[in-house]
Amino acid sequence: MSPVQSGTVEENTLTPDVQWWQSAVIYQVYPRSFADGDGDGVGDLAGLTARLPYIASLGVDGIWMTPFQPSPQLDQGYDVSDYCGVDPLFGTMDQFDALLELAHSLGLRVLLDVVPNHCSSEHPLFQAALAAGPGSPERDMFHFVPGTADRDVPPNNWQSVFGGRAWSRANPESAMDKDWYLHLFSAGQPDWNWRNPAVGDYFDGVLRFWFDKGVDGLRIDVAHALFKAEGLPDSPFTGGVVDGLRSNPQVSDQEEVHEVYRRWRTLAEKYEPHRLLVGEVNLEPARAARYTRADEMQQAFAFAFVKLGWDPAAWAAAGNELEAARRLHGATPTWALENHDIVRSVTRFGGGELGALRARAALVALLGLPGPAYLYQGQELGLPEVDVPLEARVDPMWARGGVCRDGARVPLPWTDDPALNHGFSLADPAAEPWLPQPDGWGTHAVERQQQEPESALNLTKAALAMRRHLWKNEVFTAADGGKWQVESGNLLICERNAHFYVAVAMGTEPVKLPTGTVLLSAEPLSEAGWLHPNNAAWVLKG
Ligand code: GLC
Repeated sequence: MSPVQSGTVEENTLTPDVQWWQSAVIYQVYPRSFADGDGDGVGDLAGLTARLPYIASLGVDGIWMTPFQPSPQLDQGYDVSDYCGVDPLFGTMDQFDALLELAHSLGLRVLLDVVPNHCSSEHPLFQAALAAGPGSPERDMFHFVPGTADRDVPPNNWQSVFGGRAWSRANPESAMDKDWYLHLFSAGQPDWNWRNPAVGDYFDGVLRFWFDKGVDGLRIDVAHALFKAEGLPDSPFTGGVVDGLRSNPQVSDQEEVHEVYRRWRTLAEKYEPHRLLVGEVNLEPARAARYTRADEMQQAFAFAFVKLGWDPAAWAAAGNELEAARRLHGATPTWALENHDIVRSVTRFGGGELGALRARAALVALLGLPGPAYLYQGQELGLPEVDVPLEARVDPMWARGGVCRDGARVPLPWTDDPALNHGFSLADPAAEPWLPQPDGWGTHAVERQQQEPESALNLTKAALAMRRHLWKNEVFTAADGGKWQVESGNLLICERNAHFYVAVAMGTEPVKLPTGTVLLSAEPLSEAGWLHPNNAAWVLKG
């Protein structure tokens, strides 16, 4: 059978009781690195708009755009100084409106990133707080606390996710101002004080602004960290950057945070169609699933999966744990293998040809799992993580924490030609991209893969088309749930329902599939019913 059997592209018309996001595949766009319209080497809204037909041609249901709002860009836009604007680096509000309109006309939903845990130190409300001084209502919008013992000792032992302490002096020059302010990320990203109701009111306005424009939903940045334990007590752990925020129970997963999402869900449902909330809730499955209870967000990423290596037992354990959480809280896992913070799957699964083969298999598996899925730009091209030269690295996490996320953020290769920055900059092809594209980047180029029937790009399209077809024919339904197991020969199986299972050969020998007809496989099957190592298949049972 052909490795990339193409189902016919069909409209995603589902039975009316299925909400669009239950079947959706969303393509994550990191605008800086997607396409550069104005030729300054940084991707922007004009570039993305020009390339929207490409995204639509993949057969996905929508896009999630990481932040493009005004920002000093200390953390590539996750330091927002105006939640309701467009940074001139990326374009104008008129360009955003045009982008939204075109996306909708192409059948793509548009999700934006909202960053409610912290803003930029350049945000007018933080600037006003600095100016207003200790004890002022302006300072109560953030966590300003006087130093202990003498003013040179920060209020507690919390560590920043980016390395170093989570506190900076508000006004180091002043003898009178003894306040420190909290920043779980860099010093340029002060945390909002969600115990002050004015903060909640402010964010209601931000949500309404984008929802009124017709934006279809929001991805919520560090959604589990908005509330800090009352009194800001020391953390029992001071190990520093361990698995993001999870190592500090005083800032992670406080019960009060759920009220925020209940309120946001109510707001999202005031719109028709209802707006989607998807959370970056980097917690163990049972805790993360509580954020997707019926009156909170509709989705939260299944973070267990972005950390998996090529280990069938680990996949099955993570899958079953997510299923158990689903049964407990009625929430469907939302699958993703990559995003802009994570080492790309090709590299995570071993790198080189082997890693590329495994990443193809993993992508086929991902799109067959029960629940919505997210793809990260370049995943459809099988891009590996790039070892960005030291002098070119810009990630603040690298500077302070020693972990570098730039390798997953290198501008996409559209064409084969390195002299013309691989087609990244549309207006000035000689522009220097903000992160250097490595040698050999052209082998992954879109233009090239479009010509190769068995490319990662064409495999992605085939899987998305088949997925749509199976939803339409009710082989896939919203009631599906995965049963994960490892068969002999390290064959990973996720049984989706009575008719369908996904199989991934994770061992070193060919394995026989237990039963059924293969609908799609990552690589050609050399013998019917057998999967070679590092191949994956969608199987319709007898
Ligand atoms: C999230 C984002 C990451 C950012 C951090 C701080 O984890 O995905 O890129 O650095 O939040 O906003």
